[in-house]
Amino acid sequence: MAESKNLWGGRFEGKTDPGFADFNNSFRFDRRLFEVDVIASIAYCAALETAAVLRPEEGMQIRTALDTIITTGRQDAAYFNDSAAEDVHSFVEARLVALTGDVGRKLHTGRSRNDQVATDFRLWMRNSIDELDRAGRTLQTSLLDFADAHHEVVIPGYTHLQRAQPVLLAHWSLAYFEMLARDRERLAEVRRRVNILPLGSAALAGTSFPIDREALARTLGFEAVARNSLDAVSDRDFCVEFLSACSLVMVHLSRLAEDIILYATSEFGFFALGDAIATGSSLMPQKKNPDSMELVRGKAGRVFGDLLGLLTTLKGLPLAYNKDMQEDKEAVFDAFDTVKSSLEVTTTVMRNIGVNKDRAQAAASSGYMNATELADYLVRKGVAFREAHEIVGKIVMRAIDLKVELQELSLDEFQKFSSLIEGDVYEALSLESTLSSKSQIGGTARATVDAELKQARKRAR
Ligand code: ARG
Repeated sequence: MAESKNLWGGRFEGKTDPGFADFNNSFRFDRRLFEVDVIASIAYCAALETAAVLRPEEGMQIRTALDTIITTGRQDAAYFNDSAAEDVHSFVEARLVALTGDVGRKLHTGRSRNDQVATDFRLWMRNSIDELDRAGRTLQTSLLDFADAHHEVVIPGYTHLQRAQPVLLAHWSLAYFEMLARDRERLAEVRRRVNILPLGSAALAGTSFPIDREALARTLGFEAVARNSLDAVSDRDFCVEFLSACSLVMVHLSRLAEDIILYATSEFGFFALGDAIATGSSLMPQKKNPDSMELVRGKAGRVFGDLLGLLTTLKGLPLAYNKDMQEDKEAVFDAFDTVKSSLEVTTTVMRNIGVNKDRAQAAASSGYMNATELADYLVRKGVAFREAHEIVGKIVMRAIDLKVELQELSLDEFQKFSSLIEGDVYEALSLESTLSSKSQIGGTARATVDAELKQARKRAR
């Protein structure tokens, strides 16, 4: 079914250079817009009928053919294979004309591929944001399941990648939950600005036919119509915003990936990766590599590239539509595919991590991570924090000399530094009181984290 006729042949006498035709052709990637292109055309056909551009029987004929086209496209992947169409819009129109003859040639009245592609892309993106939202929510659920399953586990918290203060593993998990909550919110905000209808702007100046754009917007589920035709056909802010929101998702996933990779090393040893998500080495028989998380970390780069590439493409473009804008699609499709698969693989990883509780507990109980606790203890006995900090620094130095942890120092030893330190210091320095003192909202006390977990379950619904 090779159709080679362009949509714009009339004023041309010569043939398109085959190399350029190939370069110009977007069908190999914009065929992803096939369904939304047909759906938008069905709505547009009804608008033309209302505007009395099409007679009811013509409209009926076109809509029936478009129904056949969408059904065939859904069922038969080969439908697209040998088409020589320039882009998805030409493809659908060629199929329509093949089914209806001259009647089908009326559908493009008062419409341009410029407002058509902008409409299609917004429809596609709306659905895609919904898919990413579901994938994000599933990952959030897996983080909560992980937190619940390892409820009692304590790990060292780090700043500068140096042991800082102990935290619950569930608290760590909830930190990533929050990042994903913001990602989902951000995507929802982008969706609001995606959901504006360009159709009816025609090529750039607006349509010459009495198309009821408000009605068209309602039919296609858009929140509002674009208010300026020049802007409507050349606005790709929604793509940039989408890529930007996707980039932040990847920042978050790559940080999670890095934590998991680190915690699964023999140096840390808190996590053991399941076979389902690791790979081996072709040379070193003992190896088990975290390729799943390394790829997620690595793929962040492509999504940032998609964002920067499109910003660069758009910069300095004169009004209104320019063919440069065709470059929006591969960037957005690539980012969507990358983010979606990264969310899914990360979910699988979260469901396949074993936790070495003892190792984590031992790490969380050493390295002077209760030093701040000791300073706070002195504060509660009336010492100014800055002075307490100084005293405890000296005590830590002494403990390092003696090669012991703070809680292993004798009371005599403590009292050389401050007479305010008494027998109750050992209780204050215990891992449990280190945790339980962090009981304000946002802290890592067990009860506080439990309450957050409950809230998070509701938020992830
Ligand atoms: N394939 C084009 C794109 O993605 C569709 C719009 C073409 N418009 C035009 N005037 N050539 O941007």
